[in-house]
Amino acid sequence: MSIYLMKFGGNAIRGKEDLDRLAAEMAQLVKKGAKIILVHGGGPEITAEIEKRGMRTTMAGGFRITDDEVLKVADEVLKGLNDDVLDSLKKAGVKAKGMPGYEGNVISCVKKEPITVKDGETTITVDLGLVGEVDKVRTEYLKDLLSQEVLPVIYPICADGSGSRMNVNADTVASGIAAAAGCRELIFITDVPGILRNLKDPGSKIDSVTLEDIDALIADGTISGGMIPKVEACRKAILSGVSAVRMVNGKDKESIVSDVMDNKPHGTLITR
Ligand SMILES: Nc1ncnc2c1ncn2[C@@H]1O[C@H](COP(=O)(O)OP(=O)(O)O)[C@@H](O)[C@H]1O
Ligand SMILES: [Mg+2]
Repeated sequence: MSIYLMKFGGNAIRGKEDLDRLAAEMAQLVKKGAKIILVHGGGPEITAEIEKRGMRTTMAGGFRITDDEVLKVADEVLKGLNDDVLDSLKKAGVKAKGMPGYEGNVISCVKKEPITVKDGETTITVDLGLVGEVDKVRTEYLKDLLSQEVLPVIYPICADGSGSRMNVNADTVASGIAAAAGCRELIFITDVPGILRNLKDPGSKIDSVTLEDIDALIADGTISGGMIPKVEACRKAILSGVSAVRMVNGKDKESIVSDVMDNKPHGTLITR
């Protein structure tokens, strides 16, 4: 089974129109025989809801520091977005099943170790709270759905071995599933054309990077913010045997993912 794992974030695909466009492309791919697992985040929507409720949210190293209250909001917002994705897929004629990462014990996570981040000139250690790291993935449930022509749509609230819910970065979930399910390709749909040398210049896209290049780009500050967990997720997937990992632009009006089965160069390709 050739499985494509696609992940999109809330900046790339925002609102009904974007969702419908992506769903239409997915419908085409499904018609051509692609098996797709979809993972989505919802960072900007979660931030907006937290602020609306007069709460505060802090990011560190591209991850959201999460306490009980933040987790509750994240869960609600992601569930709502998941319903919207299902509506769009249904409209496009695709059978889909929405679920959090903890459903069917598909993903078990462990609390993520504190991370070190630069704070000006100094380096500090930050405990992210209820943020998980993917530990185990059981793919039977997902593969059952795929064999029944049902597209799994997963949002990244997961649980650890004792059932405690945690917030997991959606890129991390996507790469964990791609590795465990032996996906043919992992595609990150984001809000930039790929990895850029200069964030202000979309024309500065790097067509292809190796893991070694990534280290250098993080070290010299070219890659920052949400791009850090994304490239780390790429690294993990590649080291676990996913042969093709790619970043593409969800803002692309022509084609976001419809050419993935044609092996056309597009976005940034990450290789070993
Ligand atoms: N070198 C870089 N190239 C492209 N994007 C970068 C780079 N460094 C940092 N970024 C930031 O990473 C963001 C993508 O990560 P994120 O905001 O988490 O999006 P997503 O919702 O797709 O996970 C981009 O919008 C950009 O602001
Ligand atoms: Mg992100």
